[in-house]
Amino acid sequence: MRIEPAVALVGHVAVPGDKSISHRALLLGAIGEGETRVSGFGRSGDTQATVDAVRALGVEVEDVADDELVVHGVGLRGLSAGGVDCANSGTLMRLIVGILAGQDGEFTLSGDESLSGRPMERVAEPLRRMGGDVETTGGHAPIVVRGSGSLHGIQFEPEVASAQAKSAVLLAGLNADGATTVVERIPTRDHTELMLEAGGVRVRRRANTVTIEPAAALRLGEVIVPGDFSSAAPLLAAAALVPGSDVTIHELGVNPRRTGLLDVLARMGARVSVFNRDRVGREPIASVQVQPGELIATEIRADEVPALVDELPLIALLASHARGETVVNGASELRVKETDRIEAVTDGLQSFGARVHSRDDGWTITGVPTRLRGGRIDARGDHRIAMLGAVAGLSSREGVAIEGADTAAISFPGFYELLESVTRR
Ligand code: S3P
Repeated sequence: MRIEPAVALVGHVAVPGDKSISHRALLLGAIGEGETRVSGFGRSGDTQATVDAVRALGVEVEDVADDELVVHGVGLRGLSAGGVDCANSGTLMRLIVGILAGQDGEFTLSGDESLSGRPMERVAEPLRRMGGDVETTGGHAPIVVRGSGSLHGIQFEPEVASAQAKSAVLLAGLNADGATTVVERIPTRDHTELMLEAGGVRVRRRANTVTIEPAAALRLGEVIVPGDFSSAAPLLAAAALVPGSDVTIHELGVNPRRTGLLDVLARMGARVSVFNRDRVGREPIASVQVQPGELIATEIRADEVPALVDELPLIALLASHARGETVVNGASELRVKETDRIEAVTDGLQSFGARVHSRDDGWTITGVPTRLRGGRIDARGDHRIAMLGAVAGLSSREGVAIEGADTAAISFPGFYELLESVTRR
């Protein structure tokens, strides 16, 4: 696919439902009581893997519409033994393993080539400490879980800031004896905690800890999924980069643990406004408007990373246009995402003419306030790299060809069409 340069991006749009929340609604609905109606569901390659996974474990899921489904819960320990193909989804694999540790029977979790290379001991090790029987293959998938009726609560301090590792342990804690506490030096997205609370589970939250008590039952009833901030991010970044742009995204999830990009855009000099603030369930939503400004370099600190982790490739592109030197620190997790995003971004942006250099845990980027030349980028099977290529194409002089552009559908089917709908040439 080729993305030609844009004259401006202008319009009011909405994006599909949040991927993190959609996965959680399915997984918690599956072990809930009765029916959970999920509306605003963000259907994508990843979330469809979760639909298929819970079905494979004996849960009925009714597809009411593309963005609406009903999950018939089987109760906290009611999943049937079986095999689960997690496809490309790290969130599915890491969250479901926490749920399975406390079920009866044997489960095998596998994934595609990319997922099979990603680290899984970060969830397996704490689950074993809880009494779970969780075996990885040299630290990776396939994972075999032999469910155990005798988990016990622990206090867990993950070595890496990861909402997925935190969630796995909290979900196992539902079926454990005693309380389970996760200590977080740097807070990560809290969608699991919010949804557990909504389901009636006792959740205690302090500045750096979250504790859950074992639950007798979980009942969600209805989950309304807000727009996915990470799917909106490419449009917001493009609006900040292309002169004359003005893009507003409505009913967008603005959980503060997800919206670090907005702070970075504002301090780099883009014009950002957030209005129509409201809530769906426990999740905050708003309309977010971005217009360009003269961008200046910034520094991304390690403690900011979880709130913008999936947006870092876009931040590298923004920094390539921002006067001065930008340094991104504390982002070594990018090396174990769907691909090594540090190298994928460096290779792609350098080939467009940007002055980007990889560090172990991020980049240094010398920005020049002019359009990049453009060229060709290989998505490397990573949806976020494909979307980065599209934004780079819009803000380039000569356009960008994306190899493997289809991979955007892992998180955002319809991405290129929506982008095109706001693009003026
Ligand atoms: C996610 C957490 C993040 C994020 C991923 C989704 C989640 O991963 O990068 O896209 O839904 O919990 P880590 O928990 O590994 O940082």
